[in-house]
Amino acid sequence: MSFTVAIDGPAAAGKGTISRGVAAHFGFAHLDTGLLYRVVGAKMLDGMDPVEAARTLTASDLDRDGLRSAAAGQAASKVAVNAEVRAALVDFQRAFARRAGGAVLDGRDIGTVICPQAEVKLFVTASAEVRAMRRFRELVAAGEDVSPDQILADVRARDDRDMNRATAPLKPADDAVTLDTSEMDIATALAAAIAEIDSRR
Ligand code: C5P
Repeated sequence: MSFTVAIDGPAAAGKGTISRGVAAHFGFAHLDTGLLYRVVGAKMLDGMDPVEAARTLTASDLDRDGLRSAAAGQAASKVAVNAEVRAALVDFQRAFARRAGGAVLDGRDIGTVICPQAEVKLFVTASAEVRAMRRFRELVAAGEDVSPDQILADVRARDDRDMNRATAPLKPADDAVTLDTSEMDIATALAAAIAEIDSRR
């Protein structure tokens, strides 16, 4: 039997950490759907047509190097406004969500568009300043030469694009539970997510 957990929210709110922790706790498979858009964005930077890149995407593309870079994130956010790109990625995500043994998908439109029937929907958020500082630390740890101001501007630009696009904008599903992690450490946020899922199993 399938059991789907949909985790949506803006960049660097803690979705990835919470999703991985939830998957490990319950033994569910995890798909970071941002990686799909990052693959398409990276292929566009290589000169490929983004719709073609989305249509031909396979699981092995998700292992490509450089997908977590700031450049790939910006390119992802640009291709993500394209309705044809989004449509081409739907089946891959829904097939993943239906796998036996349970699945966690994290992204921007999982609870609203990809898996509206998900058993659990969480909307994980935090203030733009807190998210920018977290992303800054991650990128510095990964060896990138970035400034905090540049990352805050980047987070705001990405929020604006993600929330205001015509197709599948970032927003909580009507039945999503919001988790604001601005003042929470990882352990507290993960415990809150696990408690919410436990209450619906
Ligand atoms: O989550 P991540 O930062 O990897 O996502 C990169 C970009 O991909 C986001 O800014 C967003 O524009 C897009 N995205 C999306 N829908 C998803 C996941 C990511 O539009 N489900």
